[in-house]
Amino acid sequence: MRIKGSRVVVTGGAGFIGSHLVHELLARGAEHVTVVDSLRYGDLANLGSLDRVRLVKHEIGWSDAAELAGAVDGADYVFHLAAEKHNQSKDSPARVIQSNVAGTLSLYELAVRAGVKKIVFSSSLYAYGRYVGGPMVETERCEPRTVYGVSKLTGEHLLAYTGEVSKLPYVVLRYFFIYGPKQFAGMGYKSVIIKSCERLLAGEAPVVFGDGEQALDYVYVDDAVDATIRAMESDVSGEVVNVASGTPVKVKDLVGAIVKASGKAIEPTSGPADWTAGSNRYGSPDKAAAVLGFRAKTSLTEGLAKTYAWVAAQGK
Ligand SMILES: NC(=O)c1ccc[n+]([C@@H]2O[C@H](COP(=O)([O-])OP(=O)(O)OC[C@H]3O[C@@H](n4cnc5c(N)ncnc54)[C@H](O)[C@@H]3O)[C@@H](O)[C@H]2O)c1
Repeated sequence: MRIKGSRVVVTGGAGFIGSHLVHELLARGAEHVTVVDSLRYGDLANLGSLDRVRLVKHEIGWSDAAELAGAVDGADYVFHLAAEKHNQSKDSPARVIQSNVAGTLSLYELAVRAGVKKIVFSSSLYAYGRYVGGPMVETERCEPRTVYGVSKLTGEHLLAYTGEVSKLPYVVLRYFFIYGPKQFAGMGYKSVIIKSCERLLAGEAPVVFGDGEQALDYVYVDDAVDATIRAMESDVSGEVVNVASGTPVKVKDLVGAIVKASGKAIEPTSGPADWTAGSNRYGSPDKAAAVLGFRAKTSLTEGLAKTYAWVAAQGK
């Protein structure tokens, strides 16, 4: 499997991670990239003016399937990133299931019919469902506790099923907390990283909710893209692989590092504990290292500096 010279479909390609992926695929010599995106959350501006890119404005699970068939027709590879995400799932679970489960299955079926050579599916740590304990390992039992997590795990199982009956190679990636420029552009919900950058730029103190001991596993977007392309290009198939740094970062340390990146002399303030209180969510990076030769290499300091610079540039 080689990206160079290939024809690629990226669903969700106008979104945060998808748009970084599109740029990298082109940089690595993809002949052509078809972006399938509803533009419900993504933004065409994320793609810029790119040669060799076609946008198919289509809502997977909702729009006419013939459009999606046309998009995957002639493609070598499909990266499936389009999804209703966790923050939306609380309010409209039926929408999450229609897009992430029914839509995902129809995409897999059309990809098989089009003779696609491999699918890489972007799943989530929410498939595990666990909020506490040691590193999440691919072999453990998944018990998702959100509709979003259920939909992601179902997308994984549907791909395994498709792979088995159609002999279609595939890899599932479970992303942990991916951050970087373009994150959540145009969306109501913003990560603690983007919010803290914005507050600092406005001269306000960033807020640490609760005791700040809650810890998450952060991966810079360029590293997530690298893992995603490795998953496609490698001979690996039929595997579920974490895209994690392996290091839990306490929110109070994260916010402190963002303040440092800003260069401002502002002390973080504290807010009431939220639902993340007491949580400790990080992934084992060992399988990714063993099967894909992948380890996240961007330090938090470097990644936050780049993210802060991007948020600052938005205000200019
Ligand atoms: N950002 C993270 O930290 C993270 C963590 C775990 C998993 N993921 C997964 O990675 C993928 C990309 O996430 P992101 O953070 O870039 O999100 P994003 O919202 O920025 O991008 C998703 C894109 O998909 C599009 N989309 C949504 N539903 C669609 C549909 N039914 N049909 C067509 N397009 C649709 C949106 O318009 C958007 O452009 C998602 O599958 C998400 O579940 C992300």
